[in-house]
Amino acid sequence: MKAVVISQAGGPEVLKIEERPVPVATEDQTVIHIKAFSVHRYEVLTREGGSPSVKFPRVIGVEAVGEVEQPSKNSKLVKGQRVLVVNGGFGRAFDGSEQQYALVPDDILHPVDFDGSWVDFANYPETFYTAFGALKATKLHEGQTLLVRGGTTGVGMAAITMANAMGLKVTATTRREERKQDLIDLGAKKAVIDNGKLETEETFDGLIDMVGAPVLSDSLAHVKRGGMYTLVGMLTGEWIWKNFDPFENLGGKYVTVFDGVDINDDVINEMFKLINDNNLQIPISKVFTLDEIQAAQEYVMKRDRPMGQVIVTTD
Ligand SMILES: NC(=O)c1ccc[n+]([C@@H]2O[C@H](COP(=O)([O-])OP(=O)(O)OC[C@H]3O[C@@H](n4cnc5c(N)ncnc54)[C@H](OP(=O)(O)O)[C@@H]3O)[C@@H](O)[C@H]2O)c1
Repeated sequence: MKAVVISQAGGPEVLKIEERPVPVATEDQTVIHIKAFSVHRYEVLTREGGSPSVKFPRVIGVEAVGEVEQPSKNSKLVKGQRVLVVNGGFGRAFDGSEQQYALVPDDILHPVDFDGSWVDFANYPETFYTAFGALKATKLHEGQTLLVRGGTTGVGMAAITMANAMGLKVTATTRREERKQDLIDLGAKKAVIDNGKLETEETFDGLIDMVGAPVLSDSLAHVKRGGMYTLVGMLTGEWIWKNFDPFENLGGKYVTVFDGVDINDDVINEMFKLINDNNLQIPISKVFTLDEIQAAQEYVMKRDRPMGQVIVTTD
């Protein structure tokens, strides 16, 4: 089988295709045939050596969709069953998605009811799970208002489509005028320009934030008293809330972070029910093959690429 192995941190050229034997199942680890996976910006950071917990050589990639090739001795899954894997050390503590087959601990392998293509399936795992987890953390109910800050990110688009299906009134942001209509097409009622300060005076029952630390005060100013702010990402690359005045910023508001640590079958099933019932999708920017992994990682960082996720197929 083909595996993309990184032996040392560096540019796209360190992503090297190797021939490796297909792994063999154990008592509690199942072999899956990976069919497709999404590529994200933080994987470029990992490749560059920016994730100190990832030791090379490593096959990176924290999420994949595929089918069971050889169930573990203790597994209830059967050969050919559709599964997804996300986080839990996949592509970080042990080899992940950038290969044709993977040996996966049973407790992070999730059977999923989804009939679409492998490329469409690969659009969901981490991106939708993060958005769904953030929506749950924000604790809104039908008819309430939500602001998605970073609406054109994969997670933002997934949050818009799911929040809309849940009956929330969604407003979403982008830095680019020409993308406002895309946000409306995804299900947002309003689109707002974010130039470091939001171009709206409105306040919301909940806010899901992908942009992060430098705009925290501005974000909290758009949350109603009693409302919830959920931090999901730090697109600006700044991780620390500096000079944060809690009395100035937090009066009567709640703040939490969605960190993607808890992934469980019940939440995945609930999410795919919402996806299947409402036929929810977000755009795919481009599809690559495993042989094109270097180009896929370069592409994901391009500023002017079309909105949407970057998917790699493995066969
Ligand atoms: N907590 C978790 O479990 C978890 C899981 C997955 C991802 N994340 C985080 O969620 C965030 C979104 O990830 P993603 O993969 O969905 O992103 P993505 O699809 O790669 O997002 C790309 C878009 O982000 C916007 N953007 C880029 N830099 C920005 C900046 N400095 N300020 C404002 N907007 C900026 C741009 O949209 P415009 O040009 O249209 O504004 C760009 O098109 C990331 O920070 C990621 O690390 C967190």
